[in-house]
Order: sequence, then C-alpha cells, then structure tokens
Amino acid sequence: MSLNVQEKRFIESTEKYVHNYFENESSGHDWWHIYRVRNMAKRIAKTEGGDLFLVEMAALLHDLDDWKLSDAGQDSKTEKWLNSIGFPKPKIPVILEIIEQVSFKGAGVENRAISVEAKIVQDADRLDAIGAIGIARTFAYGGNKGRLIYHPDIKPEMHNSFDEYKKTTAPTINHFYEKLLLLKERINTKSAKKIAEQRHRFMETFLEQFYGEWESEI
Ligand code: NI
Repeated sequence: MSLNVQEKRFIESTEKYVHNYFENESSGHDWWHIYRVRNMAKRIAKTEGGDLFLVEMAALLHDLDDWKLSDAGQDSKTEKWLNSIGFPKPKIPVILEIIEQVSFKGAGVENRAISVEAKIVQDADRLDAIGAIGIARTFAYGGNKGRLIYHPDIKPEMHNSFDEYKKTTAPTINHFYEKLLLLKERINTKSAKKIAEQRHRFMETFLEQFYGEWESEI
C-alpha cells in the first residue's frame, strides 16, 4: 500500500518539524534516533503489515512528549502539532494511543503494545536502544545526566515501579541490566526479534570485554 498525496504531505511537514525540534538534543534522543526508528519501523512493517502511514507518523512523533525529555503535566505537543497541520480529528487519538504504548517504563512495569502499529514502533524504538547504537546512546544519556560509567559496588536494581525507574542515578553499566539486556524478551514481532538477537549478542560481548579491561585482564 503506498501513501496518498495528503499523507505524504503530513509526513513531510512532520519530519521537518521533528528534525528541527530534536536538532540539538544531546541525551541520545536526537533527530538521528527518530530517523533510525522511522526507517526501522518501515522495514518491520514491510513484513508485519499494519497501516504504513500511522506507523511512520507515530515513529516520527514518538519522543516528542517523552517523560525523559519533558516536564510532567504539560500539554501534549504531539496533539498540538497534529491539530496545527489539520490532521484528521478522528485519527489524532489513534496516533496518541500508539505513542503512549511505545515507551519503556522500568523492568517490572508492564507496558504492552496492543495494535500492530504500536508493536512495530515499539520494536523499532527498542532495537535502537540495543546493539552498538544502543551502547553509544546509553553512555551519551548517562553523561548527559552526570552519571558514572561504572561502579563495582553499586549493583543493578530491578525497578518495580515507573517512579523508581525514573529516579535512578545508578552508573550507566547498570542500565544494561535494568533495561538493555531485557529488551530482547520484550520484542513483539518476529522480524524485530531476529535483529534483536544479533544486537543482544553484541552487547554481551561488549560487557565481557569491558569487565576484562576493567580488571586489567585483557
Ligand atoms: Ni525513542
């Protein structure tokens, strides 16, 4: 299914807006994260199906109101944007719902993607959190928050509430155990699972090398 002229117009203007908005973001949620998630979501949608237009729009907008990047309780920028471009009113809640289901909120916190579009965008977002890119982004985020790379005495914690997860100040290596290494099991679609497995192995290799170098064994 290819997109109609109006849909293409919505995507182009949203891409410009989001690109501009995230241009100088330095915590690993910059425009290129959005760019990769959008492309990966399109790749997954090719085999998994779903409405391509909704997938692409939600992928472009998925971090605009992210809890990590915005203050709680403020108006939805996504909704404002969609209204401002004359996006069909009945489809606005559909986009907002997909986005709401995408975000990771802690190891023990249930957050299920329900629609096929939400599953695809969530998978694409999670794939960007693992592998080589995931490692780079995690350290960029930790640096942005002033965290240590690693501290041998501070053990990883499994957060059972979104609040606990949000408040953590633990070293960045802990984040591998609190989130990154858990993501492979939380992938929704078959096509994404395959990609996740390869990226997961790469992170395990990275950690082995890291500890080896830390103890001056390698
Ligand atoms: Ni994201």
